[in-house]
Amino acid sequence: MAKIVTGVAGFIGFSVARALLEDGETVIGIDIVNDYYDVRLKQARLRILEAYPGFTFHCRDLADQSLVAFITERHTDVTEIIHLAAQAGVRYSLINPYAYVQSNIQAHVVMLELARALPGLRNFVYASSSSVYGGNKESPFSIDHPVTRPISLYAATKRADELISYTYSHLFKIPTIGLRFFTVYGPWGRPDMATFLFTDAILAGRPIEVFNNGEMWRDFTFIDDIVAGIRAAHLRPPPPDADGVRQTVYNLGNHRPEKLMDMISIIEQTLGRKAEIKFRPMQPGDVPSSCADIESSRRDLGFEPKTNISEGLPRFIAWYREYYQR
Ligand SMILES: NC(=O)c1ccc[n+]([C@@H]2O[C@H](COP(=O)([O-])OP(=O)(O)OC[C@H]3O[C@@H](n4cnc5c(N)ncnc54)[C@H](O)[C@@H]3O)[C@@H](O)[C@H]2O)c1
Repeated sequence: MAKIVTGVAGFIGFSVARALLEDGETVIGIDIVNDYYDVRLKQARLRILEAYPGFTFHCRDLADQSLVAFITERHTDVTEIIHLAAQAGVRYSLINPYAYVQSNIQAHVVMLELARALPGLRNFVYASSSSVYGGNKESPFSIDHPVTRPISLYAATKRADELISYTYSHLFKIPTIGLRFFTVYGPWGRPDMATFLFTDAILAGRPIEVFNNGEMWRDFTFIDDIVAGIRAAHLRPPPPDADGVRQTVYNLGNHRPEKLMDMISIIEQTLGRKAEIKFRPMQPGDVPSSCADIESSRRDLGFEPKTNISEGLPRFIAWYREYYQR
């Protein structure tokens, strides 16, 4: 029995794959290892995974339809797909929209076609995002809220993934679970995200850019909590809903929004340095605050986030300083 993890050279995919491999699971990792951010960081993650005997890696573009035959000819024993590859980032979706259509929509359909073609598949879990809540005013964000106002193309592609997954669950009886992640951070994190950018800039003595004049709140979620949520979800195919369709979505967030300025203070204290802050207006596509309602994730997945930013940020910074020797 094997599990496919896509986006395995990425932050969350790597973290999930490593946890599974630590427990002796067999993992087939797929990633194109693109250069959206420093490829060396992705290669370093892959080197760690390649040390486990249960790991097989395929460097492939998920948007390429021939992937379905490529995988089914080689791997007949796949029981779960954990699909985390995507073009991430809200701001970049204003610059390079086609990358999002390719990697988030075309690739998502290819992965669902792969799910159809795998005879022993029990569950298809995929990454959605808190950004699907877009212009929602009600907080905390609940999976019962309508999500019809995506305010970035990134958000629209993630919402499209949820709708397309519903269709595949309905038509082909594939159990699917979409996980709406809320601002994930931690060791091996993504260089385009605030915790990483701020740490890097403060250590280099460069100013940091803070949007909406610091009036921003984020439900920062530590990577270990996200990994626990994904692992719980992938072993629990959803029961049929009232129409007999086995699909659902969950929020995976910390349920505790933190003010951006407080997050910066913890980074400053941990580094022992003051940030030079340049306040900027709100960015197009961004939302001022996020907070996850995690009632259904708690109930169905036993999801219980354990790490707040006063513990998680020092753990991220300890990794950063060791990895970059700074
Ligand atoms: N990190 C967060 O805070 C966060 C929040 C919400 C949702 N998400 C979602 O979680 C998932 C994982 O995010 P992450 O932070 O690990 O991002 P990441 O950028 O570190 O990892 C994504 C990986 O997918 C790969 N990839 C992209 N397009 C591909 C393609 N066409 N074929 C094969 N591989 C491809 C990239 O090379 C990369 O290694 C993504 O779907 C992202 O949208 C992340």
